[in-house]
Amino acid sequence: MRKPEKHILIIFGASGDLTYRKLIPSIFDLYNQNLLPEKFGVLGVGRSKLTNETFREKMGRGIENFSSRYKSEKSEKNDFLKMVQYYSFNTKDENEYNGFNDYLQKMDNQLNTDGNFIFYLATPPAMYSLIPQFLAQHNLNSEEKGFKRLIVEKPFGYDLQSAQELNAKLLEAFNENQIYRIDHYLGKETVQNLMVTRFANGIFEPLWNRRYIHHIEITSAEDIGVEGRGGYYEDSGAMRDMVQNHLMLLASLVAMEPPAVVDADSLRNEIVKVLQSLRPIPKDKIEEHVVRGQYTASTIKDKHIPGYREEKGVNPQSRTETFVAMKFFIDNWRWSGVPFYIRTGKYLPTRVTEVVIHYQKTPHHIFSHDENVKNEHNQLVIRIQPDEGILIKYNMKMPGGGFEVQNVNMDFHYRDLNNTYLPSAYERLLLDAMLGDATLYSRGDAVEAAWKFIDPVIKAWKSNPNIKMHGYPAGTWGPEESDKLIEDTKTWRYPCKNLEGDGEYCEL
Ligand code: BG6
Repeated sequence: MRKPEKHILIIFGASGDLTYRKLIPSIFDLYNQNLLPEKFGVLGVGRSKLTNETFREKMGRGIENFSSRYKSEKSEKNDFLKMVQYYSFNTKDENEYNGFNDYLQKMDNQLNTDGNFIFYLATPPAMYSLIPQFLAQHNLNSEEKGFKRLIVEKPFGYDLQSAQELNAKLLEAFNENQIYRIDHYLGKETVQNLMVTRFANGIFEPLWNRRYIHHIEITSAEDIGVEGRGGYYEDSGAMRDMVQNHLMLLASLVAMEPPAVVDADSLRNEIVKVLQSLRPIPKDKIEEHVVRGQYTASTIKDKHIPGYREEKGVNPQSRTETFVAMKFFIDNWRWSGVPFYIRTGKYLPTRVTEVVIHYQKTPHHIFSHDENVKNEHNQLVIRIQPDEGILIKYNMKMPGGGFEVQNVNMDFHYRDLNNTYLPSAYERLLLDAMLGDATLYSRGDAVEAAWKFIDPVIKAWKSNPNIKMHGYPAGTWGPEESDKLIEDTKTWRYPCKNLEGDGEYCEL
């Protein structure tokens, strides 16, 4: 595999959780696979006053707890940590960037990295527009000597207007081709496989349109609550946290036209076309298209689960949604009239993300008069996580006399492949940014197009208190009302954490 050019990765917000849990463990995993350049360094930056030693100690614990490749070899971890440094300064204060720049230039001279810098913004979002401006004031955006790239974490804006403002601010300081907006879903191996399934096989794509597909369902369920992030989640809710980014992205990959080639421009052009074709949801028809819910207290396996409103940092009268189910249409030639259903929630019965393609029913049944059989759709289930794989549900004849028809499963599991290591999303995406490949990063116009679609729903929820917020007991599949969204089959697939399992009962 190609190795990135020499460079320094500068992480702003380095004393935070993301650096500890995801970034440093993923960089270590790249190191473990010999995918980092010879000349390389990580510079953690933050306001907390830490020394190189204390920072390394903490990052070492992050590696032990969260790396997928760490095998308790102390020497390997310590060798890696020697490449990691920490510099503390107040990133809000313009004047303090002189000192930071001096430190960075010295590090660059020592490591011989030729002014190649990647800046990673893992800070609170309020800093996303400030830091790039200050970097630009110190010429740290200029590619005259060495490349300069900027990785921006989610959330990318709070609504359409703030996303547009943020894009404009970033573009004052950096060019679009230097900006890498991260959506970790695109870093998932199985999400990328969605494109391979569609575009590297002859059997799926010819049927991938309104003539043969009845509807499409995308579920991203979590079996945990807000896990101490109540303060953040209160202002976010499931719509901003999961739908505007991850689920709209999944829907775009399912719906897009084949790109001419797989590169940053071609792929992202196709994604943005889908987002621009989303049919707006009328303000007065929100409840016909969107169901929102919030988990309430319940008991799961004899354990009391507090309701969302009892979580730390959450308003006891909160109207923040922890569940969203939504029906929408993509107005283009391929998808005209095909409903897309997406659903996500905290404290659902299991953790699962999957895309389900429901094919049209057979036009005429010769084997069965049973309405259930007649109404069945063949399904193609693309399992993103866990138990990654692909499942086809189709009908076959029961052995024996007559022609009794039964629905059966044909499945492929990633775990059946030999010696497959599924890299984590951050590992893949960090490596891509190091290689200068933005294909799996979101482009500004796509982020804005997704906001344009989602924003009116959030605004309607805010301005119209008559739009219902449904409670659902933690550990259930969300408000029953979400079933009413589904035309014809009248229900979602209720998946289990093992790919083939579905139905009413699910292991918790
Ligand atoms: C994050 C959200 O973007 O995605 C979290 O902020 C959510 O609330 C997480 O739990 C889900 O990611 P994954 O990879 O576990 O599906």
